[in-house]
Amino acid sequence: MRKKVTVIGSGNVGATVAQRLADRQLADVVLVDILEGVPQGKGLDMLEAGPIEGYDVRIIGTNRYEETASSNVVVMTAGFPRKPGMSRDDLLKANHDVVKSAISEAARHSPQAILIVVTNPLDAMAQTALRVSGFPKHRVLGMAGVLDTARYRTFIAEALNVSVQNVQGFVLGGHGDTMVPVPRYTTVAGIPVTELLPKDKLEAIITRTRNGGAEIVNLLKAGSAYYAPSAAVVEMIEAIFQDRKKILPCAAYLEGEYGIQGLFVGVPVKLGARGIEEIIEIKLTAEEQAALRKSAEGVKQLVSVIGV
Ligand code: NAI
Ligand code: 2OP
Repeated sequence: MRKKVTVIGSGNVGATVAQRLADRQLADVVLVDILEGVPQGKGLDMLEAGPIEGYDVRIIGTNRYEETASSNVVVMTAGFPRKPGMSRDDLLKANHDVVKSAISEAARHSPQAILIVVTNPLDAMAQTALRVSGFPKHRVLGMAGVLDTARYRTFIAEALNVSVQNVQGFVLGGHGDTMVPVPRYTTVAGIPVTELLPKDKLEAIITRTRNGGAEIVNLLKAGSAYYAPSAAVVEMIEAIFQDRKKILPCAAYLEGEYGIQGLFVGVPVKLGARGIEEIIEIKLTAEEQAALRKSAEGVKQLVSVIGV
């Protein structure tokens, strides 16, 4: 039997996730949105691409959660972008309300699902989803680290003129400008990147990675990135459905790991059929640990505003 994925929010990220899932024949997809006609129209349009692309998956769009029942994975992309005059806290509260109502509906109809949260501010929205769903922590995760790491790997590959596939590494911490790329654990075909790039070049790449989301927003003028974010979500879903035991940086609920208590923060996790099967604790230097704590502190402040 085919797997079923519900994607909440049929905007740029949600629709592109749906399309990538269909292209890879990974699952039937239900797109949910509050806009009437938009998820239905996008779903039908994607379905009609099936005969050309050669996929048989079922894609539907809806405004009702009944049709999402028994999903294996729910991807939460619904939310508002920041509007002029809106503070960070206003946006936080608005998206908190969206996540609360959508996740409680989705969780009720798919009590065994794994939740992947994308809506920003990412770590705080993942925490909201955990509280509202009541799901165990291994079935609630946030997507940010795979995206931030992909940006980091892209810039390193570009600087060295090598394949992106040669570059391995990860970015820790919250999804914001305090995220923590870790050059000490970054390799290029097994060679430490610190042997290949001078410190100032690496620093510039780290800064560009931290500003990766804003760089795209500034170029697009309206809206934010969605091609790389949707690819990141689908890599996570593939690891889950294929029980790959793949180590990927994801936002996970920490209870003492890395000295952080009761917060979602980006760390390397092993992803398999059960969701997060292990949180990988790597040794950090005092400086790296301090940077991670600072990043977690930022998440804590957001979480305290919405009280989750
Ligand atoms: P978008 O504006 O294109 O789409 C959002 C969709 O959510 C819209 O279609 C809207 O109608 C829908 N929506 C709003 N309230 C809803 C509700 N209560 N129920 C169902 N649908 C609802 O935005 P885009 O570009 O798709 O981004 C979505 C979210 O993902 C944003 O919060 C964005 O900041 C975040 N994001 C996070 C990334 C990450 O790394 N975690 C990367 C990229 C985007
Ligand atoms: C990004 O990093 C907006 O969080 C989004 O592109």
